[in-house]
Amino acid sequence: MVKCSNYVARQPDYDNQIHYSDEENSRWQFLFERQLPLLEEYAAPAYLAALERLQLPRDHIPQCVEISSLLQDATGWSIVPVPALIDFSTFFDMLSRRQFPAASFIRSQHELDYLQEPDIFHEILGHAPLLLDESYAEFVQAYGLAGCRASDEEKAWFARLFWFTVEFGLLRTENSLKAFGAGIVSSKSELPYSIDCENVERRAFEIIDILRTPYRIDKMQRVYFVLESLEQLFEIASRDLIVLINKARSKGLKTRNIWNTGYRPGWLQKI
Ligand SMILES: [Fe+2]
Repeated sequence: MVKCSNYVARQPDYDNQIHYSDEENSRWQFLFERQLPLLEEYAAPAYLAALERLQLPRDHIPQCVEISSLLQDATGWSIVPVPALIDFSTFFDMLSRRQFPAASFIRSQHELDYLQEPDIFHEILGHAPLLLDESYAEFVQAYGLAGCRASDEEKAWFARLFWFTVEFGLLRTENSLKAFGAGIVSSKSELPYSIDCENVERRAFEIIDILRTPYRIDKMQRVYFVLESLEQLFEIASRDLIVLINKARSKGLKTRNIWNTGYRPGWLQKI
């Protein structure tokens, strides 16, 4: 079942253009310019290089169709506007066809610092750049293809893999840790927190551990997983994810740190 959103999806016209108001474009400019210095300091070099290639506009919300044109040439991906929240089946099906579903609205003025669901700022700044990277692009498609084959129960386990990599993954560079997950790089508070905070766990990337680790969507993370390189995603893409999920299921979900905080198990099923 799809969670409700207070936001309404913006529909493209016959020319695939979404018409945003001046006020909405100003919100994009504010968010984008506020995030750039943080990205320079905390984001992974691979992400920054991809962001540079995208040449996103500062003063207006970019059109998905324009970004898709660049992605298509590089890795065959496109960014497709969808309602704020979509069901698992649609999500996996689109990823399997290298179509990244993007919520097309922009957050309201009073939610500039945080909103629980994805908006166009998160989708484009967070996800679009690394869809230019072949390892990331391959992994996200493999994730979608495997998700299409998964049972309802297996899909909940899939969500954790996406969460701890594509949304909240960290990457080790020569001298330091950097962020590449979309949920981090599009957040003004979690970007520095994920790197600087001393009271979080940063575990080595290990897929069974990831699949067994619960998360919360309504607070900054207490656990991050650190990749040594984006090629690790490429390696995972070549493995049978359903087999890995069933291996994780046989070991069970880890419960430490999360169940005593009023956490509701049903939230695990949201991506
Ligand atoms: Fe996202």
